[in-house]
Amino acid sequence: MFVDEIELALLNFYRASELHGGLILGQMVRRTRDPELIMQLTRHSAEEVNHALLWTETIVAVGGKPSPVRDTYQNRYVEVVGTPITLLEVLALTQVFERRVYRHFMLHLRKPGVHPIVARTLQRMLDEERGHLSWVKHWLDEQAREKGREVTDVMSRYLAADQRVYDALSIQYGFRSAA
Ligand SMILES: [Fe+2]
Ligand SMILES: [Fe+2]
Repeated sequence: MFVDEIELALLNFYRASELHGGLILGQMVRRTRDPELIMQLTRHSAEEVNHALLWTETIVAVGGKPSPVRDTYQNRYVEVVGTPITLLEVLALTQVFERRVYRHFMLHLRKPGVHPIVARTLQRMLDEERGHLSWVKHWLDEQAREKGREVTDVMSRYLAADQRVYDALSIQYGFRSAA
């Protein structure tokens, strides 16, 4: 069983995007005072960096080579909506992104002929992603109670951007839209 070049490039894109996400969340910790939030962001950041490690190990295990790329999911978002600056923007985008990743990894897992090592890594990501989705959603719900429309506006802006980014990726890597 082997993983073709297109799928290897996709796994490398996953790897780079996990790392990018982890680094952004880690940066947010330095601007946070709330001890609970420091804890959540630090854990989330660490888990994303660990996901980058798991993809790196997966790529090597199926005979590929991890390579540096500028192209990440996060950079594609920035091209469409600009750089998220505030914690609200970063966590709103994180929520939109992680919902997408969850659906996309399920789709990838169901593709016929997925290498068992890749399948195992996808399954593990799906398990850990649930925790990320739920704490960020909880935080966003609290913000929405305080700030109202500001939160829903940011979310809908990012949802629209996500659809554009994902559509382009679907064409590039030949998978159908999960939306
Ligand atoms: Fe992740
Ligand atoms: Fe995550």
